[in-house]
Amino acid sequence: MTQDEMKRQAAEAALAYVRGGVIGVGTGSTVNHFIDFLARIKGRIDGAVSSSEASTQRLQALDIPVFDLNSVGGLSLYVDGADEANQRLELIKGGGGALTREKIVAAASEQFVCIADESKLVEVLGHFPLPVEVIPMARSYVARELAKLGGNPVWRENVVTDNGNVILDVEGLAIQQPKELEQRVNNIAGVVTVGLFALRGADVLILGSVKGAREVMPIS
Ligand code: 5RP
Repeated sequence: MTQDEMKRQAAEAALAYVRGGVIGVGTGSTVNHFIDFLARIKGRIDGAVSSSEASTQRLQALDIPVFDLNSVGGLSLYVDGADEANQRLELIKGGGGALTREKIVAAASEQFVCIADESKLVEVLGHFPLPVEVIPMARSYVARELAKLGGNPVWRENVVTDNGNVILDVEGLAIQQPKELEQRVNNIAGVVTVGLFALRGADVLILGSVKGAREVMPIS
């Protein structure tokens, strides 16, 4: 079974959490499968709040109405992928560059269901470079501050986020205390969003695997 087939499995299993209303939809190849499955049951939902221009286009192409978060209030469900997840369901996200809107929609949602293939489950976060969205004029300053935290920040050149900002990918971190690191990086002037989702992690993790989709509940 390919990694993409495992992503598809996880995406299909997440349909069980869709109970109507407006739902939050994330970004990435796993979520693209979810959007395709969602189209099959679109009559059961009012629509979606999207975390990226890419997902908005895919949703609209499948005739799923897309709403501005400001017009819908809180959301009951958010479904999104991840680049890494640990057993506490703390995540690294932002490989696709949509981390800021993803963090906003996750924060506004009662339940966050994360979908991924099983290769994303790790003991310690940080093998995947940690994305940090930064105001362009602060890029060099933020990079120096991130280096002081022990990582090696690399500018994702030629990438501009949906919000007009740049991304630094911090390599070489072994993140033992994700919540603390999230707060420290949040406090650097010029940082818009760090792709650590630990203060608000996932509530449920659905992993596609060769044995089928399985759910991981957070350990404390
Ligand atoms: C985008 C993300 C994605 O959820 C993450 O990169 C996982 O992507 P994929 O489903 O393609 O493996 O955070 O910013």
